[in-house]
Amino acid sequence: SRFVSARSFQALSVLGRSFSTTQQDSNKVVILGASGGIGQPLSLLMKENKRVSHLALYDIAHTKGVAADLSHIATPAKVTGHTGPEELSACLQGADVVVIPAGVPRKPGMTRDDLFNTNASIVRDLSEACARNCPEAVLCIISNPVNSTVPIASEVFKKAGVHNPDKIFGVTTLDVVRANTFIAEAKNLDVSQVNVPVVGGHSGVTIIPLVSQATPAISFPYADRGRISERIQNAGTEVVEAKAGTGSATLSMAYAGAKFVNSMLGALNGQQGIVECAYVKSDETEASYFATPLLLGKKGLEKNLGLGKLLEFEVELLKKAMPELKANIKKGEDFVNGN
Ligand code: NAD
Ligand code: LMR
Repeated sequence: SRFVSARSFQALSVLGRSFSTTQQDSNKVVILGASGGIGQPLSLLMKENKRVSHLALYDIAHTKGVAADLSHIATPAKVTGHTGPEELSACLQGADVVVIPAGVPRKPGMTRDDLFNTNASIVRDLSEACARNCPEAVLCIISNPVNSTVPIASEVFKKAGVHNPDKIFGVTTLDVVRANTFIAEAKNLDVSQVNVPVVGGHSGVTIIPLVSQATPAISFPYADRGRISERIQNAGTEVVEAKAGTGSATLSMAYAGAKFVNSMLGALNGQQGIVECAYVKSDETEASYFATPLLLGKKGLEKNLGLGKLLEFEVELLKKAMPELKANIKKGEDFVNGN
């Protein structure tokens, strides 16, 4: 019959409820630097992900207030706030994913590498705590300069004897988000349907958009291709200048960070076919770290999908990226190894 009796409706909804209870994922996500410009909106977006059962927020200041505020939102994640190094271990224990947006942002006139002196030691110390307390967790590093902070975290994990290159990611999703936005605008496309891989590193010339591999397929005259690639490479600086000394991208970064972490949580919990670009230990080029499209899986990085076929224009971008990228990597490794 087309009609469901009251009793069978009740039975169905009890069934539905028991299905959703047994299928509820149980993931602990930690955000280090949770009170900051990125940390707060990123924490809000993570509170919305139903795969998160525990959202643990750490910063050197203001964390209790951020946690209390978010804890009133009617989603399943339990929220805890942890302030200062003595509360860091408890924050990290049992973590499945640790996201690191801790550190200072750029002001106009600075490069990302100018942040090295301050942020390298912040990322080193936080990575040491991760290696001690949650060596199996997936690390997603946002703190700049990403080209160097990812090698720093890897060296720290190596020193602690717990390094797994499939679990340490530099978050470059914002470059992809920007490329999708700018190219959809330029070609008058539905942005939700556009996907442009961006490879290399995360600073100036090391950011390499692969417009030739965009979906849907698009083509640009040579000059336009140059202009749009440059805009993607300089988009961070565009925001730094517009913010005029008060910081760099925070809201678009929170969006991009949540996109990456949501994909990662999907993959860790068995969702198939999830691909994101990110900056990882890599054999794809002569640079020992490099961002490419990655198939994510239950243990983090499942398969590096590599560079694919490049246009001559893109080969030139790759050549221009190499010296800076390699120098940034060496600087990060030397910082940990005392050279
Ligand atoms: P912010 O200054 O607003 O926030 C940084 C937060 O880190 C602050 O709350 C601060 O208290 C905290 N912090 C500092 N030292 C810490 C420590 N030792 N432990 C824990 N927390 C600590 O800066 P923001 O705008 O949120 O940017 C953060 C970082 O992200 C910067 O380095 C910025 O360059 C980088 N960033 C990266 C991308 C990317 O695409 N990967 C995009 C935007 C910004
Ligand atoms: C960005 O790309 O927006 C970030 O790396 C922040 C910056 O300094 O540009």
